[in-house]
Amino acid sequence: MNSIIESLLSRRSVRTFTDKQISDEDLDLIVQAAILAPNGRNQEPWHFTALQDPGKLKMLDELVVGKGDSFFYNAPTLILVSIQEGNAYEKEDTACALTNMMQAAHALGLGSVWCNRINGNHELDTKLTQFGIPQGYRVTGTLAVGHPKGDYPAKRIPKQGTITIVRS
Ligand SMILES: Cc1cc2nc3c(=O)[nH]c(=O)nc-3n(C[C@H](O)[C@H](O)[C@H](O)COP(=O)(O)O)c2cc1C
Repeated sequence: MNSIIESLLSRRSVRTFTDKQISDEDLDLIVQAAILAPNGRNQEPWHFTALQDPGKLKMLDELVVGKGDSFFYNAPTLILVSIQEGNAYEKEDTACALTNMMQAAHALGLGSVWCNRINGNHELDTKLTQFGIPQGYRVTGTLAVGHPKGDYPAKRIPKQGTITIVRS
């Protein structure tokens, strides 16, 4: 099978990570995949913040879910996607960028999972500049990335009956 198709069909969400940080080269490839994702009217209204400072990651966790819990499964890297406030394609562009990053991470042998806790919580908006979110941008999604710990999850069995093909 074509290797890109094979990779698309085998990606899974990974929720357990080793402590080993991802390489700078891999991080660069993952964010390259993000900034080249399709986006509405090619406005590129996004910013990508890769948080790798263990102290800042802990602070962010405490802010979002409180002490002793981790909304990003203690991954060594958390990539925060933020979009300029008021952009009409906020959700669509976020999904395109995050999907590209998840697929890039998988192709590089890394694990990732979309973590949905900051977006929608507007009380947090003003508190995120300390984590590298530019003023005027709102976090719309985050991606935990790291080396999978243990076995990579098996291929998902998708729900049946979700495809219709109409020919003539
Ligand atoms: C919009 C969106 C939000 C998600 N939020 C979370 C989340 O907050 N925490 C989490 O563990 N997984 C989250 N996921 C991952 C889904 O649970 C996962 O993609 C789904 O169960 C299918 O499994 P798979 O990715 O392994 O194929 C999210 C996925 C999407 C697309």
